[in-house]
Amino acid sequence: MEHRTEEDAVNEIIDGFQKMSEREIVIAPWLVYQGEGRLSSELRKEMEKSAYELSIFERNAKVFWIPSLDVTPAFLQRAFFETLLSTAAYLSYMRLGTLIVTEEMVLVAERLVKKYIDEFGSSLLLAIYSRVMAYLNTQLLRYYGRVEENIFLTGKWHRPWINYTIDNELENGLRYKYYQIVEENGTSFVQLTPEGEKLHESCRRDLDICGFIRQREQLIRASNFTNMDDYESIVHHMNPELHNMRRHLIQWSGIHSGMKVLELGCGSGALTLDDGLYLAVGESGSIIATDPSRGMLERAKLKLSRFDADNVKFQQAFAESIPFPDSTFDAVIGMLFLQFTDIPAALEEIRRVTKDSGIFTTLMVLEVPRNDAFLAEWFEPIFKKGLQADSSVKLPNAEVLPAIAGKYLQDCSFRVQVWPSTLEDVESAVKFLVEAGTMAELSELPLQARSVLFQELIERGYAVREKYGPDNLLLRQPAQWFKGTVRK
Ligand SMILES: C[S@@+](CC[C@H](N)C(=O)[O-])C[C@H]1O[C@@H](n2cnc3c(N)ncnc32)[C@H](O)[C@@H]1O
Repeated sequence: MEHRTEEDAVNEIIDGFQKMSEREIVIAPWLVYQGEGRLSSELRKEMEKSAYELSIFERNAKVFWIPSLDVTPAFLQRAFFETLLSTAAYLSYMRLGTLIVTEEMVLVAERLVKKYIDEFGSSLLLAIYSRVMAYLNTQLLRYYGRVEENIFLTGKWHRPWINYTIDNELENGLRYKYYQIVEENGTSFVQLTPEGEKLHESCRRDLDICGFIRQREQLIRASNFTNMDDYESIVHHMNPELHNMRRHLIQWSGIHSGMKVLELGCGSGALTLDDGLYLAVGESGSIIATDPSRGMLERAKLKLSRFDADNVKFQQAFAESIPFPDSTFDAVIGMLFLQFTDIPAALEEIRRVTKDSGIFTTLMVLEVPRNDAFLAEWFEPIFKKGLQADSSVKLPNAEVLPAIAGKYLQDCSFRVQVWPSTLEDVESAVKFLVEAGTMAELSELPLQARSVLFQELIERGYAVREKYGPDNLLLRQPAQWFKGTVRK
């Protein structure tokens, strides 16, 4: 397309991003930054070399949403490198269930990225990459108001994976009047102009529509769950009723001896093992318990050896793409997972893998109410004006499921229950609410702000506990019981 309007360019980016997702290509370099030792220096070098070769071959690529922008060879090379790196990390996680980048997946990533460029051109990839980076840059400036030039250039608060400076991006931002430099007491700061604010809004909107923000949160959460060794002790301390609730779910589901059952979002295996789902299906039945988080599954597998449960298998799966043929299971069940999924996509998959007349039962966490005084005071930095909670990562409210479930399942029943969770153990509470992704507003924060905020919330939590007393730190957490039948 020779003369694109701005609207054309945006639509092309959204479409191009969706095509990337379909082809398992992602731009999420923070995946590798998030943990130690996720990438060997040999594999890094291998991808740097491929990115360099691509940048020579594709040196005429343009950023078509700002056609007059100069694309430097270094920028081009970084765009290819970070796309390769993210894709290899994503594939290692999704296909092999590991957060460590593997050689095999580096090769697959190289093949997929080259194929995408052959099919759609490197300018499309560059347009998407630069849109994502513009979003991250403007997000940083928007959140902090202004940032020391040096911090901006090194990316250490918002792109901590980089080992280069983004002077070229700063220059362009100044040239196109998205950013301005202000001096104070001999220090230079970068801040957004009104045009820059608009750029942030439009990048955010596009990335929300095309699924980037949702994907980013989902992967951050998966990685957090993987690292949460103490998940079970935290949730059971917060809510001692949880075991009873799981047992109730099993009873209500009608799952009985001889059934072939799929569990989704099984975490470390509490429903299937500790709370007895494996007993409900008996020796003649079987359970495949799934979760996308490798760490959770490893903890579940470790636990399996303590139970006499030969009829149970743990396997990695996202609820939105269940790796089993149509009509495989008599029943599907899952506890506290559906709120983290793309709900229509998950219900579609649940319907597909369940046999005719099979039942799906779940308890889903709903959006946390924010009106309790202690909670508002404690989490004020998250709830504060300016952070928008209306993006696609927000937890559902009680209307979401009733509005769509009928499309996939029949004879649906819904019931909202509010259960009190104690937040008296301040550090665990912050870890759970923040890291497990209950606070959707966090998706609006640069990476550095997330970790600083984490510390601040712990300090605020101790002050709130002192003021209100530990017994009064009760979170009234709503959740929705749901049951529906598959008819084929
Ligand atoms: C709050 S934990 C619940 C674990 C367990 N069911 C229990 O009762 O303790 C939520 C689980 O959902 C998983 N999860 C997150 N996104 C998911 C997705 N898209 N599909 C399936 N499970 C998901 C997480 O990895 C995590 O183990």
